[in-house]
Amino acid sequence: THTASLTSTWQSPSNLAIVKYWGKKNIQEPVNPSVSFSLSQAFTRTSVNLTPKEGGGFSFKLDQQPVPKFENKIETFFKAARPRLPIIENYYFDIESTNTFPHSTGIASSASAMSALAFCLADLQQQVDGKKDLDITEVSSLARIGSGSASRSVYGSWSLWGRMSELPESSDIYAIPVPADIAPVFRNLHDDILIVSSQDKPVSSTQGHKLMDNHPYREGRISQARQNTLTLLKHLSSGSFEGFAEIAESEALSLHGLMMSSTPPYTLLLPNTLSIIEKIKDFRNRKDIPVTFTMDAGPNIHLLYPDEFSKEIAEWEEKEIKPFCANGRIIRDQVGRGPKKG
Ligand code: PMV
Repeated sequence: THTASLTSTWQSPSNLAIVKYWGKKNIQEPVNPSVSFSLSQAFTRTSVNLTPKEGGGFSFKLDQQPVPKFENKIETFFKAARPRLPIIENYYFDIESTNTFPHSTGIASSASAMSALAFCLADLQQQVDGKKDLDITEVSSLARIGSGSASRSVYGSWSLWGRMSELPESSDIYAIPVPADIAPVFRNLHDDILIVSSQDKPVSSTQGHKLMDNHPYREGRISQARQNTLTLLKHLSSGSFEGFAEIAESEALSLHGLMMSSTPPYTLLLPNTLSIIEKIKDFRNRKDIPVTFTMDAGPNIHLLYPDEFSKEIAEWEEKEIKPFCANGRIIRDQVGRGPKKG
């Protein structure tokens, strides 16, 4: 056991799924494969300081404030991660995080927060064990235990989580970089988050995943996600924006369709969500500009488009989209390069 204190600091991005993870099995394994990209601006920076203490324990602060809701999540995570991280037994952890993006805006803070924490903890375990190179699949697997989608945040650019027999490298336990060359258009893709509402969502994603257990469309959903994953990988390498758009929209609307058809059913879409979708389709038809969208489990829209159209799109957003956003709020982001130490 080290007597001195040790520190590890990492920043890790949030990610945005195009093929959606929805439904779990075993310990936080997905019922279907998912594909996402890491964001560039939206990340969590976490420092963990460790001091020897029998029985362990931790304190957590986000932007210098304790947040009980997140303390519970970390508590659960520590319990589940204990078998892989012996340091949890013998050390006390001071955890301090900051996010570069606001809460409840449709950017998944659990993905960036849990992956940043997983990096710090895996790093500290290595330091205590006197080992060097971090095993990135181990970090992904740890992050997954904290929050499923966090498994995909340990890489830059595009990643895939979930076992597919067609893709021998793939796994339910950890994410991998998308096993295909990514065309330039998708390496620099833009994601403008159109904030329709920043209120806390009435149904958590944990509850949503659960409703897939006995969902009437469960089997259909699983095969749809498998098919969409294979097709998406083809479009990501060929650079077909049109093909990509078809899958992005089908996945976003299917996710909401699953929520609307679960028992009990629920809706997260708001009138302005649908108005913006109509606006996007209208703009695309009129201008012949490649633009598409996705949504997570909430009312906000993620507008996706190639870098070269950013100017036209910004002008259109200003005039036609901002009026549908809460306080005219739009957060601009792009595909990012992944986590960084320090
Ligand atoms: O990681 P969780 O349990 O918060 O689930 C996230 C689920 C979606 O964001 C809706 C889809 C996804 O694949 O990220």
